[in-house]
Amino acid sequence: MTGPLAICLLASEATPFSKTGGLADVSSALAKHLHAAGHDARLFTPHYRPRAGEMRPRAVPPAEPLAGLSALPLAVGTHRFEFSVLQATLAGGAPVYLIDCPALYARGAPYTNDADEHVRFIAFTLAVLCACRRLAWAPAILHCNDWHTAFAPLLLEARYRAEALFATTRSLLTIHNMGYQGIFPAAAAGDLGLGVRGDLLYAPDLAAGRINALRHGILYADAVTTVSPTYAREICTPEYGMGLDDTLRARGAALTGILNGVDYDEWDPRADRYLPAAYDAEHLAGKRELKDALLARLGLGAAPGVPLAGIVSRLAVQKGIELMFEALPKVLAARELNLVVLGSGEARYEEFFASLARRFAGRVAFRQGHDEELAHWIEAASDLFLMPSRYEPSGLNQMYSLRYGAVPVVRRTGGLADSVEPYDRERGSGDGVVFNDFDVPALEWALHTALDLYAQPQHWTRMMVNGMRKDFSWRRQVGRYVELYRRLIAAA
Ligand code: ADP
Ligand code: GLC
Repeated sequence: MTGPLAICLLASEATPFSKTGGLADVSSALAKHLHAAGHDARLFTPHYRPRAGEMRPRAVPPAEPLAGLSALPLAVGTHRFEFSVLQATLAGGAPVYLIDCPALYARGAPYTNDADEHVRFIAFTLAVLCACRRLAWAPAILHCNDWHTAFAPLLLEARYRAEALFATTRSLLTIHNMGYQGIFPAAAAGDLGLGVRGDLLYAPDLAAGRINALRHGILYADAVTTVSPTYAREICTPEYGMGLDDTLRARGAALTGILNGVDYDEWDPRADRYLPAAYDAEHLAGKRELKDALLARLGLGAAPGVPLAGIVSRLAVQKGIELMFEALPKVLAARELNLVVLGSGEARYEEFFASLARRFAGRVAFRQGHDEELAHWIEAASDLFLMPSRYEPSGLNQMYSLRYGAVPVVRRTGGLADSVEPYDRERGSGDGVVFNDFDVPALEWALHTALDLYAQPQHWTRMMVNGMRKDFSWRRQVGRYVELYRRLIAAA
């Protein structure tokens, strides 16, 4: 089957409307590139609103109410809501539908620990299906992402299949992170409104007093993808499967890995809206200028020839910050190196970087918080970029880093293994430094190896330029999703 497909994308975050991590970049980029390839792709996401008195953090495209889709009733278990749908467009014209329901989404942050967290995202999923109905739009594919929308395949099966509009809809679940599964007390099951189809729920979890959203997506989606081939293999093992490896293994070939892509309209040093200078592999002067400017702005020593390492990260256990507790002070004490860190998350990690910045004042800068502009500056100004992740489903920053000439120093796991090629001095091939074991000596080895290479400009430039010439654009990766969508439709 050829021709344009009707694809309904559901995501709990979407750049530039909301973002806590890579999912936001991926959902928007997928919508944008599917649209560019001629498909009728529509991205649905919650309309998070600031609470009264809070400022909206950054400029977002204007959203207009959609005629006929306002003040619609929505029942989630015994809860009653009213929602409206707003429409906006991404650069390039892909439509985005924002589910507006202040009672659920005006909470200051996309995710909460509130008692009704499951209700917020079951409501979102039901609202999307209801909006399709109101638009009389029959999606060929329902593409859900992560636990927030992982009940969609089950809801489709149990509550919507009988409707002509959804009779042939196929579902795909993309797992961006096994670390977040949406586990709630078993009583939450009532809010799915399954009635007699409650037999579809995974009984062993219910017997243990809980319900797991992600598990139901894995069980009921027509296909399951994750965001790199290596992570697809890893999550079938107990070490990386986080309790769902058995359910994943049971899906056999229905589980595949498709590496994320990069939106080079947003992340390319040849034309980066946040940077006053441009550069590429053939013209590196701009990178040196930007490095000097960032060092000055951060108050870091600007001695020529001292490498700058960068980190831009959610500060979560996944990211391997523990390894840095020991490795970074040792390496900073032993070698010439400056470090800039941008991130926010768990207090122990924020405290670590704050104390590192005090101890190595003038050499280490830590900026706590979320700062889109500084993230671009760090990619551009850094010589190396650290991602020693414990696990990494795909990772985007290492791919951004490759394009910006910030040589990635990464652990061989998930998407890091699939995107960074270890540098080989003999052949002059490869673009980063890759270590295997999740331990301090391995990270120290990697940092020393990187710094030794930095001291040999012929190797360093080669490695950096190799990375800058790599192409991880979405154009190719989107084709893999389209192939999969078509296979699912053909198999129906
Ligand atoms: P994850 O989704 O696990 O956080 P990714 O590497 O896929 O990891 O994506 C992270 C995205 O979030 C990147 O676009 C990165 O630039 C951005 N990011 C992470 N932390 C910050 C921050 N503190 N400020 C700005 N951007 C950030
Ligand atoms: C997750 C993963 C990250 C991935 C992102 C987008 O948050 O941690 O590796 O790149 O989702 O798929």
